[in-house]
Amino acid sequence: MASLTRSHGLWHLSTPPADTDAETERIAGALLHSVVGGSSAGGAAPRRRARFHTLTVQEVRPLTADSIEVTFAVPDELAGEFDYLAGQHVALRAELDGREVRRSYSLCRPPSRGSVSVAIKRDRGGRFSTWAQTELHAGDRIDVMSPQGTFTSALAALDGAHVAGIAAGSGITPLMALAATVLARSESSRFTLVYTNRRATDVMFLDDLADLKDRYPTRFAVHHVLTREQRSAPLLSGRIDEERLRGILDALVLPATVDEWFLCGPFDLVQLCRDTLADIGVEPAHVRYELFTTGEPGQERPDAGRPIEVREDEPVRTIDFTLDGQSGSVETPVSANESILNAALRVRPDVPFACAGGVCGTCRARLVDGSVTMTENYALEQDELDRGYVLTCQSHPTSDRVVVDYDV
Ligand SMILES: Cc1cc2nc3c(=O)[nH]c(=O)nc-3n(C[C@H](O)[C@H](O)[C@H](O)COP(=O)(O)OP(=O)(O)OC[C@H]3O[C@@H](n4cnc5c(N)ncnc54)[C@H](O)[C@@H]3O)c2cc1C
Ligand code: FES
Repeated sequence: MASLTRSHGLWHLSTPPADTDAETERIAGALLHSVVGGSSAGGAAPRRRARFHTLTVQEVRPLTADSIEVTFAVPDELAGEFDYLAGQHVALRAELDGREVRRSYSLCRPPSRGSVSVAIKRDRGGRFSTWAQTELHAGDRIDVMSPQGTFTSALAALDGAHVAGIAAGSGITPLMALAATVLARSESSRFTLVYTNRRATDVMFLDDLADLKDRYPTRFAVHHVLTREQRSAPLLSGRIDEERLRGILDALVLPATVDEWFLCGPFDLVQLCRDTLADIGVEPAHVRYELFTTGEPGQERPDAGRPIEVREDEPVRTIDFTLDGQSGSVETPVSANESILNAALRVRPDVPFACAGGVCGTCRARLVDGSVTMTENYALEQDELDRGYVLTCQSHPTSDRVVVDYDV
């Protein structure tokens, strides 16, 4: 097990293990649980090598005035690369104004052969989402990464399971796939969805949700909460604060009957839901969550691939890595304090990454030797950290030599 500590807001990981007595492990575990750090329950999502493939846009379907569903055709020969579990996401890659831009989008349909669909909501001033909204058309070809992520249900096939989802805005996307999958897998499973938006016109998948309700009238419940419009029920009108959340849970969701929870929305809402659920006695292991951003407005996207000059007389650290069975090695100046990802991209442009911000988990690798500090972690689960996995976009070497393996 990797040695793991947290101080001054940074994660310090080293391997091979230092003396890990039970108390150290217990404290490390408690620290990890006390901060925001990825979905908290273990899932059975397949881990495959993240790889881009060029796919053709089959359809672009408007969902609201500022969101679209984009469906890509998956040819037979790539079917295995695009198998996925409900709740997983893909990264899209495009060249915008001469610069490569990558963004993650959750798959919004239950898995089926022949296509994958994402839903993109335009972020005002956002580069990729604005481009997709205005420029992406059926017949276009763009790069789509094989699906990744662990925001998946451990109980999807369990008879009688009651799964609850709380989503805001575009956070509905993975929950659409999860709800449809859970309801289809077993005739006795239930899904309760609380979905908040500003106005009725902002509700993505309004018709699809109504169709799901028609199809599963007794097993699917959807509660729309509107923050800027009055609904007939006062409980469902207004911003979700702690009081409203507790009211909704008590009256409409009944937490004692729920086996698994899925939260997807802005940082503040997800945090409020996690805290409230913990407070009413829901086991954190039954609550899974996904963030689309770290919630820091105006934060520049970290520039993976940032140029670094290695001068001859400068002290350096060595990063050795394995990717697709091939070894690579790169030196990084101590003074640059660059991430493993940034350094590795200098010698292998195909090193996997998407957000470069510690959110999506695409850049995950296992620390085989040496030590690192990890700045942010919004993606890795506790058990992955215990097993020595790091987000290479956030990991900065602290030993002279660091060895990571992207293949395990
Ligand atoms: C795992 C995962 C799944 C996701 N799934 C979905 C999904 O299903 N649907 C979906 O719509 N999104 C999803 N996202 C979010 C998505 O990846 C993008 O982050 C989102 O579309 C915005 O990208 P953009 O390029 O349009 O915006 P960006 O250009 O990255 O900008 C983001 C925001 O920051 C602001 N901004 C940028 N630069 C500055 C600056 N210098 N100063 C001030 N403000 C600035 C922009 O105005 C904008 O509001 C997901 C993210 C993750 C990590
Ligand atoms: S690339 Fe998204 S977490 Fe590192």
